[in-house]
Order: sequence, then structure tokens, then C-alpha cells
Amino acid sequence: MEASLKEVKDSIGAIHDYPKPGIVFRDITPLLQNHDAFKSSIDALKQRYEKSGVTQIAAIEARGFLFGSALAYALGCGITLLRKPGKLPGNIVSQTYALEYGTDELQMHENALTSNDKVLIIDDLLATGGTVLAADKLIRSTGATVAEAAFVVSLPELGGEDKLRQAGVACYTLCQF
Ligand code: PRP
Ligand code: HPA
Repeated sequence: MEASLKEVKDSIGAIHDYPKPGIVFRDITPLLQNHDAFKSSIDALKQRYEKSGVTQIAAIEARGFLFGSALAYALGCGITLLRKPGKLPGNIVSQTYALEYGTDELQMHENALTSNDKVLIIDDLLATGGTVLAADKLIRSTGATVAEAAFVVSLPELGGEDKLRQAGVACYTLCQF
């Protein structure tokens, strides 16, 4: 692993038994507090996508906004917000997805993207993949193309990488646990 990506991985915290006994929660807050590690994460993503022709970043609420906005600035493209219900003021399109218990929903402004857009999905972490697959459906419902979905952290044991592969959504992650 490249030294800068090792720095990113080493800056991720591990909180045992959160939110439930037996779970190791991977915490990005130490990464955000460490300028060198945060810069390395954005620089690595910038390097991968700067010649990709991506026109918009679609960032997933809430932690995806942090990486998505810094990357949009670095790439010189716009950022489209994929939000939890009831947050966006305009007309929306909406997609529900399964959680371990129950369902959640992502929403996007219906006119945010067009078929001319090539979109990069950004989130902090890939676990089961339910959230990013809902994002992919929302984006494609506008006629826009999804170039790839990128994450700072992936937890492959939770199946998200496999789910994305099966759905034909390309995936890139800076580090795995
Ligand atoms: C977390 C994380 C991803 C999602 C990953 O967000 O930031 O968005 O879960 O899980 P999945 O791959 O199993 O769908 P959360 O819903 O906790 O929201 P937050 O960022 O607002 O805390
Ligand atoms: N960290 C942060 N968000 C998460 C995790 C985790 O370990 N698992 C599912 N969502």
C-alpha cells in the first residue's frame, strides 16, 4: 500500500462495541482532524478522477458531504446532494432502501442531473451497499451515467463490494478493514 494511503488507513479510528456489542465501528473523525491524512484522502481521489470527465459528484448525507465537497473543489466540478427525507426544498425524486431493521430513504432534486452528466458517487464508507445502490438508482433515473462509486473505507465482510459488482457499479476504495 502506498505510504499516503497507509496514512489514511492508520488515521481511521476503531470504536469497539458501538453501536452494539460485538461491532467494531470504523470512525473517520480522527482522519478529518488530521490535515495530512484528510489531504492525502482527497489527493488520492483527485488523482484518480481528474481526467475522468466527471461532471458532478453525488455526495451522500451526511459524512459523504465532507469528502464530496472537498473533492468537487479539487476537481473543479459541481456537487449534487443526496439527502435523507424532508431536507431538500425543491421537487424531489426518492428511493427507499433496506437497513438491518426497517428502511431508509435518499432524495435528490428532480432537476439536479441530466443525461449529459457523468456522475461520481462519493461516500465515507461502504458497508452492506444498500445506501449506494439507492444512490445509483436515483442518479440513473435522471438519465445521467454513473462513472464509479468511491469510498474512503470499505468493510468487505459486510457484502457491499459484492453487491456493487453484481449490480455492475464500479467501485473504488482507499482502504479496507
Ligand atoms: C453510513 C455511511 C454510509 C452508509 C453505509 O451512513 O456513512 O452512508 O451508512 O452503509 P451501507 O453500505 O450498509 O448502506 P449513515 O446512514 O449512518 O448516515 P450518516 O452519514 O448521516 O451518519
Ligand atoms: N463506521 C461508520 N459507519 C458505518 C459503519 C462503521 O463501521 N458500519 C456501518 N456504517
